[in-house]
Amino acid sequence: MPTNNTLTTHLIQDLTHLMSTKYTLHTPTIRQITETELQKNSPPAVRLRRLLSTPQPPALEKLRKTSAYKQFYKLVSKKVYTRARTYHRPRSTGATTPLSTLEAHTSTAERQPNLTQFFQPLRDLLKPAQYIVDIGSGIFPLQFDYSSTPNLQTYLAIERNTRSMEILKQNADRLPRQVSTIHSDIGDIDWDEVLTKYTGNRNFDIAFILKTVAVIMRQRQSTTLSRLLATPANTLVLSGNKRSLTKGRSIIAREKRTLLEFIQKSGRNILQQYETGDEIVYVVS
Ligand SMILES: C[S@@+](CC[C@H](N)C(=O)[O-])C[C@H]1O[C@@H](n2cnc3c(N)ncnc32)[C@H](O)[C@@H]1O
Repeated sequence: MPTNNTLTTHLIQDLTHLMSTKYTLHTPTIRQITETELQKNSPPAVRLRRLLSTPQPPALEKLRKTSAYKQFYKLVSKKVYTRARTYHRPRSTGATTPLSTLEAHTSTAERQPNLTQFFQPLRDLLKPAQYIVDIGSGIFPLQFDYSSTPNLQTYLAIERNTRSMEILKQNADRLPRQVSTIHSDIGDIDWDEVLTKYTGNRNFDIAFILKTVAVIMRQRQSTTLSRLLATPANTLVLSGNKRSLTKGRSIIAREKRTLLEFIQKSGRNILQQYETGDEIVYVVS
């Protein structure tokens, strides 16, 4: 059934605009999701297409009031939300330039403009560090400033996400030889084994747990949380996001509460705290 082309174009523009004011996803991706969903045979899409193909289709303002539109809006909204929640976002078809590696993970992409702010306050801590563990690393090992750790022996990244691990492997030539990876859920980590293998049974000097404490607290897995609390490192660098992944809203208060709860549970003391453009950071020992 042919639909009214102008009205369909306006409808797609309208929905794309509405979603882009709500969610952090790039507009071309939202448009692509909307277009794809409208072509599918889901009941809301079929009903909406039927309305669009009537000889005298309603004007956009009227269309917005129909239940077909509202249900379709809900459906697209769900899809956009789900896509916005993923750390590794597929390229939108409208992209004209390839994604740089760091843009491939939302956390590192958000941090990229704030790198100096992030690393500067850690300078004195990083300089003598020999053994570093990075838990829920994402692709942060590709963003880490190795020039700040002249004494580095081992940088161990632990991550359960297969895509992040693939990206680290594909870019191994950009990483120093000290970097090792463990593809695993933190809940399955045996710290004694890790120390034997990677540090010669001494504690790590630093553990990075960046933008990951809240993620793990939300998983409500007691083993995972206790493994994280038991991280064998003298100093922990913990951070949380300032903005939500999906809607870009400020979540500073919530993330601070979660980080402070974790710090309290760990029995450690706060040595330093600061903020960058995208994250709040606590250094604890
Ligand atoms: C918000 S991202 C942060 C990535 C990176 N630390 C950064 O700040 O750039 C959270 C990461 O933690 C990982 N993660 C979540 N739960 C995990 C678990 N139980 N074990 C290992 N990794 C986990 C996710 O796959 C994701 O890459």
